Amino acid sequence: MNIVVGITGGIAAYKAVGVVRAFVLAGHSVQVVATDAALRFVGKPTLEAISRNPVHTDLYDGVAEVRHVAIGQAADLIVVAPATANFIAQLAGGFAADLLGNTILASTAPILIAPAMHTEMWQNAATVANIQTITGRGIHIIGPAVGQLTGKDSGPGRMSEPDDIVAAALALAGRSGDLAGKRIVVTAGGTREPLDPVRFIGNRSSGKQGIAVAMAAVSRGAEVTLIGANLEVDAPGQVAVLHVGTTLELAEAVALAAADADVVIMAAAVADYRPESVAPAKIKKETQGDILQLTLVKNPDILHDLSLSKRAGQIIIGFAAETETDPAALLVLGRAKIARKGCDYLVLNSVGWTTGFATDGNAVTIIRASGDIVGEATGSKTTVANRILDVLL
Ligand code: C5P
Repeated sequence: MNIVVGITGGIAAYKAVGVVRAFVLAGHSVQVVATDAALRFVGKPTLEAISRNPVHTDLYDGVAEVRHVAIGQAADLIVVAPATANFIAQLAGGFAADLLGNTILASTAPILIAPAMHTEMWQNAATVANIQTITGRGIHIIGPAVGQLTGKDSGPGRMSEPDDIVAAALALAGRSGDLAGKRIVVTAGGTREPLDPVRFIGNRSSGKQGIAVAMAAVSRGAEVTLIGANLEVDAPGQVAVLHVGTTLELAEAVALAAADADVVIMAAAVADYRPESVAPAKIKKETQGDILQLTLVKNPDILHDLSLSKRAGQIIIGFAAETETDPAALLVLGRAKIARKGCDYLVLNSVGWTTGFATDGNAVTIIRASGDIVGEATGSKTTVANRILDVLL
């Protein structure tokens, strides 16, 4: 999503950095439009580094590209944090005195503002009337929270916390998203099968691709359950994670979550076998000698079982990570796999010591049950995630 973060001149502007960062980490492209006053509170280089884009301030920059309206026209969502009393008055009056005012007037995107000011200013009749005016026009407000203000005083006026602003903003954008109302279960990470209290058999899946799918689905309005198996990275705060360890735990969690899901996306790398028994104490080489033999038993194939028992209309998507690098041979493996598993779509990617797992990029081919290719994507894991969701739609 293209998100414009407007920042106006209040001390809470330093917290806007957290808002920008959370959007970027969730895979969104962020354009910061800051007023001159905002830049007295937080540095342009900070915002540029965090947003990974130039910060826009001046109405007279980029005139040739008609920037005063272009930023607003391209926005899918506008969030203003903090929104000062002065900015709220400007919004209520429909003024276009600065770049942020122009951006907002030129946009049809949903708008969320996070007011921040002293209690007296928030409760002043002028601000109260202005808030009524802008909410009447469909602008959404989060906060202000009640708490410690800049000085010794406390009360209503504190800007809402960045995570709450981001969650509210994504929920707002999601309401009009193309997956609004859909319930999607995503699994991510890799299962681990314990050998003894300190050792396990596992794989190198970090969970990044599954988290990217979950986040992209949240941004597009879906209600997402993310089941994470030993995630090596944190999922952004907008999605709740159900943590599991082993394949059997994952199977149980998926069965429960899938019961009322429209879609299940099995991005987790699942151990096909587990030790027949788990040693109650650490296995010692002194007692094992030169060779340690492990007996492994087969785990359930969650994707296969799910595909067999799926409800009419439910869509099941599997992943196939293969070390085969030749695209034609990979496709042959993929076609055989989707036939065996019985799922509706299979996302094929090539993995190896340096590709696929734990990296930030990915390259996939998506096939459907007939074996036909229905999508391809190369790029960030968010790009790949959105392509999968496009196919799903
Ligand atoms: O057979 P393979 O492990 O290559 O299949 C990968 C796909 O099957 C992934 O979607 C993975 O989540 C799923 N899988 C599963 N249960 C297993 C093994 C794999 O659900 N025991």
